[in-house]
Amino acid sequence: MTTLKYQSGFGNHCATEALPGALPQKQNSPQKCPYGLYAEQLSGTAFTVPRGESRRSWLYRIRPAALQKAFEPFDGAKAWSNQFGSGPVTPNRLRWNPMEIPSVPTDFIDGMHTWAGNGNCDDQFGVSISLYVANRSMDKRCFYNADGEMLIVPQEGRLRLATELGLIDLEPCEIAVIPRGVRFRVELLDGTARGYMLENFGAALRLPELGPIGSNGLANARHFQIPVAWYEDVEDDIELVAKFTGGFWRTMLQHSPLDVVAWQGTNAPYKYDLRLYNTIGSISFDHPDPCLFTVLTSPSDVPGAANMDFAIFPPRILAMEHTFRPPWFHRNIAGEFMGLIQGVYDAKADGFAPGGASLHNSMSPHGPDADTFEKASVADTSKADYLRSTMAFMFETRRAIRPTQAAMTASTLQSDYDAAWSGIQKHFDPNKP
Ligand SMILES: [Fe+2]
Repeated sequence: MTTLKYQSGFGNHCATEALPGALPQKQNSPQKCPYGLYAEQLSGTAFTVPRGESRRSWLYRIRPAALQKAFEPFDGAKAWSNQFGSGPVTPNRLRWNPMEIPSVPTDFIDGMHTWAGNGNCDDQFGVSISLYVANRSMDKRCFYNADGEMLIVPQEGRLRLATELGLIDLEPCEIAVIPRGVRFRVELLDGTARGYMLENFGAALRLPELGPIGSNGLANARHFQIPVAWYEDVEDDIELVAKFTGGFWRTMLQHSPLDVVAWQGTNAPYKYDLRLYNTIGSISFDHPDPCLFTVLTSPSDVPGAANMDFAIFPPRILAMEHTFRPPWFHRNIAGEFMGLIQGVYDAKADGFAPGGASLHNSMSPHGPDADTFEKASVADTSKADYLRSTMAFMFETRRAIRPTQAAMTASTLQSDYDAAWSGIQKHFDPNKP
């Protein structure tokens, strides 16, 4: 397999060309582009946002994206929707076992199952959370999502994301973000794949502020990888599937839309290896809030209350003394959707399997299960705990997260999740301070 090249940095202005001299050096839209290419601007933000917010790229391509026939309704992606209902949702704590890899041919688009979400794409706030399972590459099919950027979190099986702006190879413990509107194809490098995908309808994901942490720490900007220009000059019948206003549409092209020979700008897909995260924690006592584990954040119009935070629980060393080291019991205003990529999550002894998911909604109490509580309460905190190979993550939003009907009726929904806490014992004795 070829080793791909990337540019490094987060949000940097990039300039890349797959043929020498393909990138115009002075003008963005010259009267004639090198190699007979067409110039096309891809704006990811409004033209007049503050300069630091602006994301736009100029693409130099074999044919402009405008060369397409009328779209018609698309019959696939039957389990992918942005319908989260409008009535009350259960405050119960929910947990699901991993979804099985399908036996019928299923690609990344048809294998997307929406599990939960909030807000809506039309109003550009909220998120949609899906689980994907697939057993074949997208074949003569490309896709773009006009509703939001897509955060892809593989759990099993490597993916090749062939995008307009270049190739990204992705493996479990890595994540990728594809901006709104970018056309791409997902190829399976291991035959099957399973993972999580979040559509962010709100402000584009970015690195969190570091505050008193200083100029280093958490996810380092230099570890984000942006693809270099790559193109295919293919003339064939290619289906282009679009997602727009929560619906799916298709049209047939007579060429591959992945024909960008050069591009420059700030609006581009990227990937990040979660194993490079610089985890910061307490070195005295107490367990800090999980916002300290934020990889990327989508801010809302309320300072500090994110439309969505993507946080991870990576390998780390717990050394706090005389402290209950696992995550504490809590009730938060946030909605918390969790997944597990590998290993064991330190707040649960069992039942939360890699590929599974849990949902703890606003003010629904949760935290360590009974076994974890009993063990951590008597653990020797003079010695460090080494959490070696775990990788859990959380999509946390300021709004309640509404599970879909499919999630609530899934055979993978655990009927006895409350039992995780049912063994909690009363230890109170008014005579023993
Ligand atoms: Fe929580």
